[in-house]
Amino acid sequence: MSSSPVSRSGRFGSGPAAEVAAFSESISFDWRLWRHDIRGSIAHATMLREIGILSAAELKAIKAGLDEIGREIESGTFAWKMELEDVHMNIEAELTRRVPAGARLHTARSRNDQVAVDIRLWLRDEIDTLAADVRGLQKALVGLGARHPEVIIPGYTHLQRAQPVWFAHHLLAYVEMLDRDLGRLLDARERANVCPLGSGAIAGSTLPLDRERVATLLGFVDAKGRPRVTQNSMDGVSDRDFLIEFAAASALLAVHLSRLAEDVILWVSTEFGFIRIADAYTTGSSLMPQKKNPDVAELTRGKTGRVVGNLMSLLTLLKGLPMTYNRDLQEDKERVFDTADTVRACVRLMGAMLDNTRAIPESCAAAAADPLLLATDLADYLVRKGMPFRQAHHVVGSVVALAEKWGKPLNQLTLAEYQGVDRTFEPDVMDVFDLKKAMQRRAITGAPGTAQVKAQLKRWQRLLAKA
Ligand code: ARG
Repeated sequence: MSSSPVSRSGRFGSGPAAEVAAFSESISFDWRLWRHDIRGSIAHATMLREIGILSAAELKAIKAGLDEIGREIESGTFAWKMELEDVHMNIEAELTRRVPAGARLHTARSRNDQVAVDIRLWLRDEIDTLAADVRGLQKALVGLGARHPEVIIPGYTHLQRAQPVWFAHHLLAYVEMLDRDLGRLLDARERANVCPLGSGAIAGSTLPLDRERVATLLGFVDAKGRPRVTQNSMDGVSDRDFLIEFAAASALLAVHLSRLAEDVILWVSTEFGFIRIADAYTTGSSLMPQKKNPDVAELTRGKTGRVVGNLMSLLTLLKGLPMTYNRDLQEDKERVFDTADTVRACVRLMGAMLDNTRAIPESCAAAAADPLLLATDLADYLVRKGMPFRQAHHVVGSVVALAEKWGKPLNQLTLAEYQGVDRTFEPDVMDVFDLKKAMQRRAITGAPGTAQVKAQLKRWQRLLAKA
């Protein structure tokens, strides 16, 4: 094992033992930061030129060298070396081998602020892509609802039939959740969008770096284009709170996806039979020929465990660390990479699955026809006739018990039977069980009323068309 030309020169008599090198390398996973590493280096070099540390020719050579390395990495011909430990040293060592001026690139920079800037750049890109995918999933949910404007299903509490809702209303609940997830992700992006370069290893630099210039070059700017740089060098190299925010927002997003997955799994079962998923988004059983399983939803539900676990790992990783940088921090990457990859795959696959899903109107209608779903409407009917709600609740409870006793649906009791329970019931009581009318009556903001749901679908279609 040869010693690294970058970090071990001078101080060390020998390179690390092979097993230490293998234990401590991160190139096997942090190579994916290469674009951001090169971008950061070019911005840093540009600034070094402007403050007189690099000549114009040196800057030009460094840029050309980094561009060339970038092209090789992209085409898969770049030779990553495990003994060079990580993405930063691999790129810098190779640059210096090709371009003598590469030896000046690390002026007033440490891998500690370098990795911090790389991962912030990476996170910004990752959140932007994920945000677009979340919008895609919202569109899929809205699309599924809009394709079935006539479908009503029972809404459930405690997984017991509760009250009828438009199918679209149920789906739009997830659109709302996803919107808050998106807000949290963008909020995390906002706090990650601050440039730590110039923090050095821990204590900045004695050289007159123009940190604001580097920040501007890397797009670490506020809404008005003003540069945003970290205000404390020790904080700049040692905290990963922005990654934890991302992991937390992603974990919550994953939990929402998992709940959606669970609904899909229930709905696709024979017992519910509310939806059908296209063959391409289901899998079969190796033994039971009749099976068509909702594996995309099940795996989404299952993968949520990893995403939640990653958040716990990151929190635990930080909790005992003394200031400032400690090598432990290298362990952040696999966790956030896994979170990003997993959540994105789940969002995309769930969206694609829903694009290939349809409701089964007959079974939804059969389930929604259960008159018990309108027991609360019956209580509201009594309230409209002047009865206090608590009393109405009690009266309807007795009606339900009576219906159960006679083995009759609620809407098939006679008026005499209703009036036998309470004289307040009048012939118009039967109107309560007209489902279409019942849906129209849910007319307040946020309710699953016919006009309301239509308006909400429109609102989301309009919003998402712009997104
Ligand atoms: N691979 C390291 C990480 O991910 C980069 C920083 C290394 N810094 C150091 N002083 N060894 O954290």
